[in-house]
Amino acid sequence: MTVSQHSNNKAHTPIDFASIQRLTESEAQSVDQLILEELTSDVVLINQIGHYIINSGGKRLRPMLLLLTAKALDYQESNHHLLLAAVIEFIHTATLLHDDVVDESDLRRGKDSANAVWGNAASILVGDYLYSSAFEMIVRTGNMRVMEILCKTTTAIAEGEVLQLLNCNNPATTEAKYLEVISRKTAILFSAATQLAAVIANAGPAIEQSMAAYGQHLGIAFQLIDDALDYTSSKDQLGKNLGDDLAEGKPTLPLIYAIENGTKEQADVIINAIKTGDRDSFNAVYEVVKATNAITYTEQRADSESQKAIGALSNLPDSEFKQALELLARFSVQRNY
Ligand code: IPE
Ligand code: IPE
Ligand code: MG
Ligand code: MG
Repeated sequence: MTVSQHSNNKAHTPIDFASIQRLTESEAQSVDQLILEELTSDVVLINQIGHYIINSGGKRLRPMLLLLTAKALDYQESNHHLLLAAVIEFIHTATLLHDDVVDESDLRRGKDSANAVWGNAASILVGDYLYSSAFEMIVRTGNMRVMEILCKTTTAIAEGEVLQLLNCNNPATTEAKYLEVISRKTAILFSAATQLAAVIANAGPAIEQSMAAYGQHLGIAFQLIDDALDYTSSKDQLGKNLGDDLAEGKPTLPLIYAIENGTKEQADVIINAIKTGDRDSFNAVYEVVKATNAITYTEQRADSESQKAIGALSNLPDSEFKQALELLARFSVQRNY
């Protein structure tokens, strides 16, 4: 799907992601260097899987948000922004290793997923290694606030994933329950990234709160679009297989909306597919999702979260970094990968 096909974004010009990346290019290189150093273990399989997934790319969106926020707040004191950017990407990568096992996904970042190559046990254990080494790095900041935020974050992510598991195969899941899941499993890590930059920059409680809110709204928008893309994108563009959510019987917003707004027959198609986690019904489900405008609704919800994220930036001093944060909130909605 191209950006212009997003109905709510027709008036918007495409976001130049590469030019935003350039604003933190040198810091991002240092973060990658740090990540590679931290992946070194005398246990060969840890090196192998760690390098495999990290070198597969990924947008590095969360570290970028942390680095841009640090720059917007003129953080200069030490290298804690680099350390924390690496920590956030480690935690993100650990959740992906675990997530692909839970979701039985074979493709990640355009390559066979780690579980497809090395199996579930290895993916879980290396995910645990990444979590643990992230916490080792956090301790190096010597900052209790930072530790507190990150401990709460990883606990909330785990809660979100478990809540989602409980909702699987349940077509009665509501939009509110779905939002609770995505707030915890996805948005909280975005929120931690941007809040932490404010914490280390000693920006004060008001800015800290604004940056946490910005990350939270952006994260919700990001996951809403991820859940739309699971139906509308293509494998090549997304680097993930379509239909993984349906195969797990995940009641994401496109399905919840289609059940509520479709005819009885249309709702039944979706309800049965959720109950059975039936990948084979993907085309039939997609037809209903399209016919009920469920994708448009999901995009509109994402757009409204993105607007709230941008609104939260109002007390940040003007700079090209603040502008980049605004653009990334829009990118999270307009993206097609
Ligand atoms: C994927 O996140 C997991 C979600 C929260 C939807 P990203 O889309 O940021 O994954 P990478 O790091 O770019 O591969
Ligand atoms: C991602 O959820 C959330 C976490 C990894 C915690 P998804 O299951 O939707 O992510 P993808 O689509 O596999 O990247
Ligand atoms: Mg998944
Ligand atoms: Mg997904």
